[in-house]
Amino acid sequence: MKISTTTVDVTQLDVDAVIVGVAEGGSLTPAAQQLDQASGGAISKLVSRGVVKGKRFETATLLAPAGISATQALIVGMGEPTKLTRGDAFRIAAAAAKSLAAKPEQRVGFYLGDGWPAPLVEAAACGFIVGGVGQDLYRAEKKLHGLAEVHWAGDAPSAAIEAGIALGESMNLTRRLVNEPPSHIFPAAFAAEAERVASDSGLEIEVWDEARLTQERCGSLLAVARGSSQPPRLVILSYRGGGESPTLGLVGKGVTFDSGGLSLKPSDSMKTMKCDMAGAATVLGTMAAIARLKLPVNVIGLVGLVENMISGDSYKLGDVLTARCGKTIEVLNTDAEGRLVLADVLDVAVERGAANLIDLATLTGACVVALGMDVSGLMTNHQDWCGAIAAAAADCGERVWQLPMFPEFGEQIRSTVADIKNIGDGRWGGAITAAKFLEEFVAGTPWTHIDIAGPAFLEKPKEWLDAGGSGALVRTLVEVARGWPANSVSAEAT
Ligand code: BES
Ligand code: MN
Ligand code: ZN
Repeated sequence: MKISTTTVDVTQLDVDAVIVGVAEGGSLTPAAQQLDQASGGAISKLVSRGVVKGKRFETATLLAPAGISATQALIVGMGEPTKLTRGDAFRIAAAAAKSLAAKPEQRVGFYLGDGWPAPLVEAAACGFIVGGVGQDLYRAEKKLHGLAEVHWAGDAPSAAIEAGIALGESMNLTRRLVNEPPSHIFPAAFAAEAERVASDSGLEIEVWDEARLTQERCGSLLAVARGSSQPPRLVILSYRGGGESPTLGLVGKGVTFDSGGLSLKPSDSMKTMKCDMAGAATVLGTMAAIARLKLPVNVIGLVGLVENMISGDSYKLGDVLTARCGKTIEVLNTDAEGRLVLADVLDVAVERGAANLIDLATLTGACVVALGMDVSGLMTNHQDWCGAIAAAAADCGERVWQLPMFPEFGEQIRSTVADIKNIGDGRWGGAITAAKFLEEFVAGTPWTHIDIAGPAFLEKPKEWLDAGGSGALVRTLVEVARGWPANSVSAEAT
């Protein structure tokens, strides 16, 4: 998709659609007014009759309006335009793209963003890329086609447009990997995707196969992988744009399919478990974006890739595993596998010198119970580091909320036969007991865990986004990387 600026006015631009805005309460943006006049009052008629209300992200189509060159006009509700945030700009553009991309090769004129500041331009460009792509990878007849061209009316900095495109394409990479069927994206296949991304974007990459994982004593990750005929992988990506400055560490859960293992999931809960590698896909998408944006920072991204399956060789309830760091783990539920994978990956991240850590994981259904489908849970051992991540999320309009990490939750994972056990005493507070488990493996490094079990995968489409993989948190992580290392914290200052 190409985005370029234009000075042609809304009545003259010869495209498939022009996009104009109506604010909450029905006032028309300048281009909408121009179009209204040329068409003999078509938009004000829709407004006065209550068809168009200007509610944020609402869209309405005017087909072949009189007096304009474009085939149609798309009227987008802007809500309260003075309060437009980056999140709104992203969603408005994505909603417009989604509604226009029903037909292939659409060329559109965007008449809302004249003179927008760079952050809004970037967010909207990103939205155009993301909104036009859906989960219909394997449908002969696509529901969404991606826009061919966007003509941005008026002024917009080209660097912001380019950055938005890079971000949007990175989110779409994350989304595609999540949307691919689980038998296509198994651990070695994900690692091969990572190799491709690394060579395209100039990232260094190291892939640990089963032999290396054994040599490295990754007993916790390997136990989960044992029930599958697909061997596990651990992928380490690094981007060095920051000279001698400290390294930001990103860690992702990459369970390419989660059957639950011997603690088998019921069929209904298993249906979407191809999404259980979303944390890994988010890390890969973020690394790709950071490299494309050439950020002056050092970042490593580590993902642990396994399939959680059943066989005569599956790990069992009552098993005691020895994690890479030497801690022993009693397994009391094979469906609490994500934390077992992350235990070893976090240990490697610490060893590789990450100054501060963020992990992303579709870790618990309990987090979805607590916060709903649209909000990611934050859990931390360092309040300032968590605050930096929450601030980045707020800046991009992504929803996160912190859950407490009181020591009482840690008591619940003490085991009578090993150092810790892989589940709490009951189901209550399950997102937090899972985080308490992860905390055991970061060796005091400032760390924030982001449970994306809700937002990573949409069961129903939104106005601005098709169902399936969402690309949630890629923008937030890139924002954190943009603030790095100014936003870094030291282990002492808790
Ligand atoms: N991958 C699941 C969590 C999940 C649930 C992700 C819903 C996305 C949507 C995870 O491995 C899991 O099964 N967690 C268990 C933990 C329990 C056994 C302590 C859960 O949430 O039930
Ligand atoms: Mn599970
Ligand atoms: Zn899982």
